[in-house]
Amino acid sequence: MSIWESWGFSRNPYDTEPVPSSEDGLHLLVGRDAEVMGLEDAITSASTVPILAGDNGVGKTSIALVAGFRLSTGRPGDYLLLPKRLQLSPSNTLDRFEHDTYQAVARALVDNEDYLEDRGIARADVDQLKRWLRSSESRARGGGLTTPFGGFTVSGSATQRDGSFGKDGLPDLINSWLEQCVPEGATTGVICVLDNLETLNESDDARAALEEARDGLLAQRGLRWVLCGTRDIVRSSATSSRMRGRLAKPTPIEPLSADIAPDIVARRLDLFGAKGSYVPVEPDAFRFVYHLLGRHLREALDYCQRFALFLKSHRHEPQGAADKRRLLEQWMARQADECAKDASRTPPRSRQLLRTLCEMGGAATHHDADVFGFADSAEMLIVAEALAAEELVTLWGRSEEGQEFHLDCTSSGWLTEYQRRGYATLPGATG
Ligand SMILES: Nc1ncnc2c1ncn2[C@@H]1O[C@H](COP(=O)(O)OP(=O)(O)OP(=O)(O)O)[C@@H](O)[C@H]1O
Ligand SMILES: [Mg+2]
Repeated sequence: MSIWESWGFSRNPYDTEPVPSSEDGLHLLVGRDAEVMGLEDAITSASTVPILAGDNGVGKTSIALVAGFRLSTGRPGDYLLLPKRLQLSPSNTLDRFEHDTYQAVARALVDNEDYLEDRGIARADVDQLKRWLRSSESRARGGGLTTPFGGFTVSGSATQRDGSFGKDGLPDLINSWLEQCVPEGATTGVICVLDNLETLNESDDARAALEEARDGLLAQRGLRWVLCGTRDIVRSSATSSRMRGRLAKPTPIEPLSADIAPDIVARRLDLFGAKGSYVPVEPDAFRFVYHLLGRHLREALDYCQRFALFLKSHRHEPQGAADKRRLLEQWMARQADECAKDASRTPPRSRQLLRTLCEMGGAATHHDADVFGFADSAEMLIVAEALAAEELVTLWGRSEEGQEFHLDCTSSGWLTEYQRRGYATLPGATG
């Protein structure tokens, strides 16, 4: 039995997975109506590929999944949502990425056979692809080698004489079905979320794969892509001149306001809990954690689940809200001590920069050099680099010469400052 079940929950209420693409997801997603509607408009109204750009864990994937779910249920004849999120990892070649995509699209299509049948795809062909997918998926689960598209016959095109798919067999078949289902120029089809574009930064191969996909997968009629990534990648790789024209202007996703943070946990408690469930971090206490960590949502949820594990391992269940909150604050103070210990290597000027950065809301750019008391942005950058080396800030959007950059405080940076202030509660953090 999980600790959550022992406390009367059906699921972990502080889980850090994206909000699901389901009815539950509609209930769980807080404060993103404008972003969801904006994305739906972008998917339905333009042929370019929308991109959501924002900090790690700010909620990009959740927005994409909920918008996709709303379109696939609101306009089922027009949209299907790929349940699997796709990623270009550093080890992913374009072949592998295409293979994963077509396998997932094939699965989504056969799981919606009425969609195919309504558009004139023969039921017998759908059944055959279904059987082939089942055997291919079970081979993959068994760890056996799967020749990508072998052993399948279908009436019409895309197969080899021996009845199996050639290298391009499955893509050819799926593309021909998509083209039969989706009229030319239409912006409908299968919504595919390509997540965590920031991995492109780590690998030239992944970036090259994306650029190669530009005129292939990303432009395939009937596939409606949504890209998600941190702002850095969106500024560099995804908006390289080769990608321009295919991709829409990135939509920045800003952190949710601390005022609505309690709702995030309240809705989870509502959905996963029952009367009498033991709640280690109450909605208002979540607001305190979220604010303290500079509105890093995934990290705030993660700290809450770690606190819950801590309580469980000490067999301690404080009862009243005030007792729980006191213990949570003590525990957060210990986490802050750890961060501050790790940060003690940074030189005094860098610590001063961190302090001012937190006082100014946690974000700055090269334009702020004089506000921070530096002679110029180059000097500010050197001082910031020492903080970045200890992961107290992230440095992003750097120009080639380094004169331009953005600086964001990490949750460790916020905790380090919290310790330095003697664990003083920040304005607005009281909940
Ligand atoms: N609007 C929201 N309401 C409630 N919970 C949310 C919301 N947005 C995000 N979450 C929760 O916050 C966490 C992070 O969300 P998500 O994975 O969507 O962020 P992300 O920006 O895609 O992160 P990453 O940069 O790692 O890909 C998840 O646990 C998710 O359930
Ligand atoms: Mg994501």
